[in-house]
Parts: sequence; structure tokens; C-alpha cells
Amino acid sequence: MSRLLVEGGTVVTASGAAPADVLVDGEQVAALLAPGSTPESADLARVDATGKLVVPGGIDVHTHMEMPFGGTFSADTFFTGTRAAAHGGTTTIVDFAIQPRGGSAREGLDAWMARAEGHCAIDFGFHMILSDVSEPVLKEVHGLVDDGVTSFKLFMAYPGVFYSDDGKILRAMQTAAETGAVVMMHAENGIAIDVLVAQALAAGKGEPKMHGGTRPSVLEGEATHRAIVLAGVAGCPLYVVHLSAMEALAEVAAARDAGRQVFAETCPQYLFLDESLMAGPDLEGAKYVCSPPIRARAHHEALWRGLGTDDLSVVSTDHCPFCMKDQKELGRGDFSKIPNGLPGVEHRMDLVHQGVVRNRISLPRWVELTSTAPARLFGLYPKKGSLLPGADADLVVYDPQRVHTLSVAAHHMAVDYSAYEGTEVTGAVETVISRGEVVIEHGAFKGRDGHGRFVPRAPFSGMDVPARGAGGR
Ligand code: URP
Ligand code: ZN
Ligand code: ZN
Repeated sequence: MSRLLVEGGTVVTASGAAPADVLVDGEQVAALLAPGSTPESADLARVDATGKLVVPGGIDVHTHMEMPFGGTFSADTFFTGTRAAAHGGTTTIVDFAIQPRGGSAREGLDAWMARAEGHCAIDFGFHMILSDVSEPVLKEVHGLVDDGVTSFKLFMAYPGVFYSDDGKILRAMQTAAETGAVVMMHAENGIAIDVLVAQALAAGKGEPKMHGGTRPSVLEGEATHRAIVLAGVAGCPLYVVHLSAMEALAEVAAARDAGRQVFAETCPQYLFLDESLMAGPDLEGAKYVCSPPIRARAHHEALWRGLGTDDLSVVSTDHCPFCMKDQKELGRGDFSKIPNGLPGVEHRMDLVHQGVVRNRISLPRWVELTSTAPARLFGLYPKKGSLLPGADADLVVYDPQRVHTLSVAAHHMAVDYSAYEGTEVTGAVETVISRGEVVIEHGAFKGRDGHGRFVPRAPFSGMDVPARGAGGR
């Protein structure tokens, strides 16, 4: 078994930062050692992290590689997407397998496993999208949980595609409560949104900015409230995905103040991209079409505060890239046909690090939001999201000072534009180690497809949600 010493750096975990060397033995972390205390040895490779941070590998629990949507597929394959993730300091993704409508959940899992297994550059797991909730499908949930698929996404949006009504949602939540699964919710009132979309199109308003205009933030707040109520009736943990709106955040905060097992993630696009981008010339606005939509600056501010107060627990990407050519173009003249989703898996660690640079969050909180909290919530901790002895040796050597510019010319995602074109960020990934193998060395990819393994996840085991009482924050 090969041994590796990452030496000279400052180790940052969710609980603090201190100078230490990290000894890796084979695929696992063996020990954190006093700096400079390990003698030279022929069987020990060394990675110099002097002046750098050493953090647990990032965990992005919301990606969509090769996902069918609106008659096309998201542009990153499991290989190109996981390679880009590695470039950005992410060493585990949890992607979404989809139950086909009218089919079984197992069928969906098998199809996604066939796409991913043997093709990923980093480790991967799956959530399951239940697109057609029925009693036979709910029976399958028990077996899926046993096989390490311990979270299920439901949609209050997209009627006729992924949408579940409140009764189906409640039944799925009851099943989650029985099995220890987490329900992930796309919380937008899709029935009301579809009325607004039809009215806009009938009035001849087909331009991309109407995507945002027909998905007001109050309809995200309303759906979030309803999801929280239904999860309370069922007694299951709830995780609200891609939260974008201050109204939705207020609902999550109130539930958490009451001590409820309610969690939410946001994504970099909701922290950095202003809704005015959807009003760009010609089809430019289509670059930014995702659901929920990117919103006004006041929402970004509220979300940054939520990251600081722990009302928001995770930052994931909802990476779902579609090229402008042949894909986003499908929605020329009809915004409802623009495939929904943005590229971002490569930039999450850097973009959230800007919160440290701007004094919005601490370095340990950066690690918690991007690695440790997602690991805990989704049954990966302490194997992932920690540097404890025995954990998988997933490590990132991060240069907190290096300034670079995000751009389509520099990124590694298989998509023909950058949603962050020209954005200057402080902090850059230098070296990435995945289960003891160097996969990124000084910014160059050294990994291979097939290195990444499926990671079965444990059921939900509860998280601390300190009840603070009304107005306690
Ligand atoms: O626009 C988005 N978010 N596309 C991906 C699918 C989803 O709802 O997460
Ligand atoms: Zn969604
Ligand atoms: Zn998504």
C-alpha cells in the first residue's frame, strides 16, 4: 500500500484550523501529525502544502450529469462532469437517478448506475427522483435504502413531468419516516407557475426574462411552507433543495427555530447571479435560466446571512449544464422550452470561498458548508467530509491567495459558456487527492475514468437543530 504525506499546510476542518501534516496510507487518512515530525522514508511520497490550506474533499450533493430534460440531455457526462468537479476540489458527487414515469424506481437506479459506474473520476452516490409516486414504488424504497440510496427528491413544480400532488408527497414522506430516508423537495408551486407561463406566452412574451417573471419568490415561499407542514404530519426529515428566495428561507428558519429536522441548501447561482442577467440581449438570458430562477440582490443578502446563521446548511451546485448551441437555443421565442439548469460543479469551492474573503463566513464554516454538513446529512460521514483517521483520503490542497478568473476558456465542464464569465475569485485548488490517489496536481488532471466508486449511504441519523424559539435569532 502506498503512503503519502501532505506536509506544511494548515489543516482546516469544520471544527477549526491548525498547522498539521496529513499522513495517508493507501486509500485512507492514517493520522494528523505535528508539522515536520515525519522522517524521510523510501516508501513515503510527499506533497508540499506550505502556505496552503488542506481541507477534506468537497462533497456536491446536487448534480445532474447526462440528465434528460426538455428533449435533450445535460451536457456533462459522468466522466467530464466528475473530472471538472475534481478540478474544483470536489471529490464526491451525489447525482439524481430518475424513476421513469410509469416505471419502477429500481429501473431508474439501474439506468443511472450503468451511465456512471466505470466512468467517474471521483466517488459518486445517488439520490432517487420519484417522478411517479405509487404504492408499488413506495414499497421499493425499503430496498433502495438498504442499497445505500437513502434520499428521495420530490417535485412541487413541473406538472406532467416530475410533479407530485400533496397526497403523493405525504405518502412518500410517510415512507421516508418508516425507512430513515430524507425527502428532498423542489419547492415551487408548479400549478400556479404554469398558469402564469401560459398567460405570458399568450400575451406574446416569450423572452428568457419571463422565466423569472413567471416564477415569483412568493410561490417558492408558499411551497416551502407546505412542504414543511407535510413533513411535520409525516414525521420525516426534510431537505429543501436549491433554495433561492428570502420567503423560503424564512419558512426554513421558523421550522428550525421550532427544533424541526428541516434543512436547506442554496447554490452559488443564488448567491452571485442577479436576475437582470435573464434580460440580456437576444438569447443571452437563456444562459441563466434555471429553476427556481436567479433572483434580485436582496435575496442574495438574505441567503448569505442564512449561511452564517446555519438556517442554510449546505451549498451544492445543482450542476445541470446545457450548451447555448442546440440546447438553450431550443427556447428561442418560448422561454418555457429553454432547458432549465446552469453549469457550476467546478466553481463551488472557489465561489463559496469568496464568503471567507468577504468576511461573510469563517474558514471552518466554508469546509462545513461544502463538505462536512452534506456528508452528515446524507449518510457519508465520517468516511467522507472529515479528516479523521480511517476516513477516505479525499483531500484538497487549496491556495487561499491565488487570484484567477472564471471563464469558458479556462473551465473543464463540457459546456460552451460560463455563467460566471469574467468573475475574479481569490483562492484556487492546487492539488486534489481522491482515496489516496492524486487526481489533480498543480491544476492538471492526473486521474482516470473509472477511479470513482459508488458510495452507498447510511440512512438519516438526525442532526442538531437547536430550537431557539420565536424571534431567537
Ligand atoms: O433548473 C434546474 N434546477 N435544473 C435541474 C433540475 C432541478 O430541478 O434540480
Ligand atoms: Zn429541482
Ligand atoms: Zn437539480
